[in-house]
Amino acid sequence: MKRKRQRPFVIATFAMTVDGKVTTKNLSPVDFTSREDKLHLFRQRALADAVLIGHTSLKRDNVRLGLPADMQETRVKRGQSRCPLRVIVSNEGRIDHRLKVFQSDVSPIIIFSTKQMPGKYERALEKKATLHLNSSKHVDLAGMLETLRKKHGVRTVACEGGPTLFRSLLEQGLIDRLNLTIAPYMFGGTKAPTLTGLSKKFLPASVLCALIDVRVVGEECFLTYRIKGKRSKRLRGSKGG
Ligand SMILES: NC(=O)c1ccc[n+]([C@@H]2O[C@H](COP(=O)([O-])OP(=O)(O)OC[C@H]3O[C@@H](n4cnc5c(N)ncnc54)[C@H](OP(=O)(O)O)[C@@H]3O)[C@@H](O)[C@H]2O)c1
Repeated sequence: MKRKRQRPFVIATFAMTVDGKVTTKNLSPVDFTSREDKLHLFRQRALADAVLIGHTSLKRDNVRLGLPADMQETRVKRGQSRCPLRVIVSNEGRIDHRLKVFQSDVSPIIIFSTKQMPGKYERALEKKATLHLNSSKHVDLAGMLETLRKKHGVRTVACEGGPTLFRSLLEQGLIDRLNLTIAPYMFGGTKAPTLTGLSKKFLPASVLCALIDVRVVGEECFLTYRIKGKRSKRLRGSKGG
């Protein structure tokens, strides 16, 4: 009998423009959401055992992935660590150890990468983080989640993107919930990534999303979707291009 994989519950949180863009064409940090949205991201992070980010978002946004002091206190009162574990995903492994995330010791850092990581990077990073390097060319995302659950006790993951990592997780049925903020802007263009990145390819099958919450604050709309396991191939042929 096939063994059922145990993995954490994965909740992704994104903000996008009215026309579906999550960043600009050169991927530079862009501030298009309110203070409320930033708090929303922190609140989601504060609920999780681990926060997960792709290498490009980490590099471009140079985030520490910590939490404001009051949210750290609330976690401690709940019996949790001050901040969630910080998890970075990279196939190539050329992660700069001088990034801000490595200058902050709010919580342990775990890197999932491959044996492609050059030795110089490995030696610098192993002083700052736990490394899981697999032998194939790509990180096994399902295996990564299983390792987080089994070796690091992670039950909930806050995935903070970016779109490339989100799409990979989505394609493998590894996203359970999506928090999506719609911000009152439009960017236009085809070179600025959407929620599922820049790929022109369809997802392997349309992903069904069940809307479970809507909140409007000022001019922003905060949506929560449950990502349904059941997918429909039927929609793809008739819509989109
Ligand atoms: N609006 C929002 O809510 C939001 C949220 C997050 C990010 N963003 C924006 O999105 C932009 C970055 O997006 P992105 O799609 O280029 O980057 P990303 O998903 O953050 O990172 C892509 C990189 O992560 C690694 N990666 C992704 N999927 C992987 C997989 N399946 N296995 C192993 N490694 C994987 C690879 O790193 P290597 O190249 O090292 O192999 C890949 O090049 C930034 O501008 C950021 O500001 C916006």
